[in-house]
Amino acid sequence: MSQAKIPLAGVIGSPIAHSKSPQLHGHWLKTLGIPGYYIPMDVAADDLENVLKTLPKMGFVGVNITVPYKELALELADLVTDRATLIGAANTLIFRKDGKIHADNTDGYGFIQNLRQNAPDWDPKSGPAAVLGAGGAARAIVASLLDVGVPEILMSNRTRVRAEALQSEFGKRIQVVDWVQAGNMLEEAVTVVNTTSLGMLGKPPLRVPLDGLRKGTLVTDIVYAPLKTRLLIEAEKAGCVTVDGLGMLLHQAVPAFERWFGVRPTVDSATRAAVLR
Ligand code: ATR
Repeated sequence: MSQAKIPLAGVIGSPIAHSKSPQLHGHWLKTLGIPGYYIPMDVAADDLENVLKTLPKMGFVGVNITVPYKELALELADLVTDRATLIGAANTLIFRKDGKIHADNTDGYGFIQNLRQNAPDWDPKSGPAAVLGAGGAARAIVASLLDVGVPEILMSNRTRVRAEALQSEFGKRIQVVDWVQAGNMLEEAVTVVNTTSLGMLGKPPLRVPLDGLRKGTLVTDIVYAPLKTRLLIEAEKAGCVTVDGLGMLLHQAVPAFERWFGVRPTVDSATRAAVLR
């Protein structure tokens, strides 16, 4: 008698020990009663192509891709969603039954869903967004903000040319602001996002002056360790609506889990608790 294969998924990066994704997917597999496994894998760059060819033969239905392989994974895929092409990076791979690798990027989706869930009154169309940073995370966030109708994005990055590169790619709705002037763009913004790693445990603090934050502005940070960054603490004091970055991590995983395991998981307080353990 043949037995149904136990579906396997995982996350590939290097290093990978810090990843919260195994706890997250493990929580969903357990609570939904799905007999699958989700495994962290530290893979060398030279091995990535071979590993991606081998995993489907071992019963893997797909993998998440994290730093530093998001761009390389996109190149190695056979099929790519429009949003992954736009962002220029993949965070989710689906191993199709026909042997093809399908790449997607759900980071921007996760970013927006986190705000929709935790700040339901947020109206992105009602005014400009101020974005701090112009790295990989900023690309996904800018694409998703434009997609939900933000009229203008004020973008500031320590290395100005990276912000200018995003401006020439995403068009006129992006205005570049000097890093030393970054505090000035907060006053006009309806939405403020930190996409840099500043403020993360072990990284330097975000030193941008925050006295321009206004009551009612939606302020969010992609940093989730600590959950309350200086940006969010100051924003709360100024009467802003604040949303921490953990929900982005949780929501970006929903479409991948659904594609791999056939059930759409929910993001709630138990999901947060599972990854904070
Ligand atoms: P990710 O893919 O996580 O966005 P990244 O592409 O390395 O990573 O981008 C990190 C972001 O944090 C960038 O905007 C980076 O600014 P630079 O483009 O000038 O490097 C920003 N960042 C990191 N360390 C910083 C620091 N000490 N001061 C200011 N910005 C910093």
